[in-house]
Amino acid sequence: MALLKRLTERDRAVLPFTLDGRPASGLLGDTLLTAVLTAEDSLRGSDFNGEPRAGFCLMGACQDCWVKLGDGRRVRACSTLLEAGVCVSREPGRSL
Ligand code: FES
Repeated sequence: MALLKRLTERDRAVLPFTLDGRPASGLLGDTLLTAVLTAEDSLRGSDFNGEPRAGFCLMGACQDCWVKLGDGRRVRACSTLLEAGVCVSREPGRSL
């Protein structure tokens, strides 16, 4: 179940992408964080205990929103815009 629900701006272009190997979609102008959290209930697992995280500062300062892209880059989801066709992988974090 998605953590975020779109209430407005539904008329932007749809951008397909891949999330954890499955097809997903976001809207033109979405950050990766928005695109992921309108499809899923978490962005990644905590580095400390694997608990679900959804970012914290949402402005590129806390590093609580790292995701991996298909080209191997690790980026902050809150400050990276979604591009059509990008492959995004969520990190599970560490389990205790
Ligand atoms: S949520 Fe803090 S850097 Fe992205």
